[in-house]
Amino acid sequence: MTDTITIALSKGRIFKETMPLLKAAGIEALDDPETSRKLILDTTIDHIKLVIIRATDVPTYVQYGAADLGVVGKDVLMEHGGDGLYEMLDLKIACCKLMTAGLKDVPLPEGQLKVATKFVNCARNYFAEQGRQIEVIKLYGSMELAPIVGLADCIVDVVDTGNTLRANGLVPQEHMADISSRLVVNKASMKTKHDGLKQILDQVAAAVDKG
Ligand code: ADP
Ligand code: PRP
Ligand code: MG
Repeated sequence: MTDTITIALSKGRIFKETMPLLKAAGIEALDDPETSRKLILDTTIDHIKLVIIRATDVPTYVQYGAADLGVVGKDVLMEHGGDGLYEMLDLKIACCKLMTAGLKDVPLPEGQLKVATKFVNCARNYFAEQGRQIEVIKLYGSMELAPIVGLADCIVDVVDTGNTLRANGLVPQEHMADISSRLVVNKASMKTKHDGLKQILDQVAAAVDKG
């Protein structure tokens, strides 16, 4: 019997942009996660299932082998740390930048900075490398609001068009990292399900190269 292969994805831009790449490997979801309430989706290949989870939970599912493969933003992967998984492929989708940003025309204060973000570890590592003291204020979204209401001096978040920053009177400041989504694999699965995973990885890699 063929081993089941489980792929962890999140709804939204990752699902939409990953499907054409999986299609190149013959994998198509039988349900649309935006309309279905199912969390496990069957695909056109019997032994391949998709689990639909929060973007930040993808590395955790793959780390513990609850999913063999996962598609996750490099931002989320850096924040997780990458234990128990291999980063196999840059899918070159959901591209953006991890940046610091602050209020337009308001210089950052001297001394300790208050930084609002959901990327707590990334922020700590980045500012530590710069030798700057920070207090991290953990938020789960709408980070752009924090400097406006005086909750923080600056934020760490992903920026694409810059529209969200502009709409809230903020400007991008420091470029921390270029971000795109990565295909990650559970370390143990890479041994125990090597042939099945290798086939998917090769086909997805070819689809990425074609653009
Ligand atoms: P979440 O609900 O966790 O915010 P998203 O679907 O918005 O999930 O983001 C998934 C991934 O897509 C992020 O981890 C990041 O890598 C990337 N991303 C987030 N926002 C943008 C954006 N505005 N443009 C392009 N890519 C983005
Ligand atoms: C992301 C991110 C920024 C915005 C940046 O939010 O957290 O707010 O996109 O993109 P832009 O530079 O093109 O404006 P998202 O749209 O994912 O909303 P959510 O994560 O808060 O649901
Ligand atoms: Mg988002």
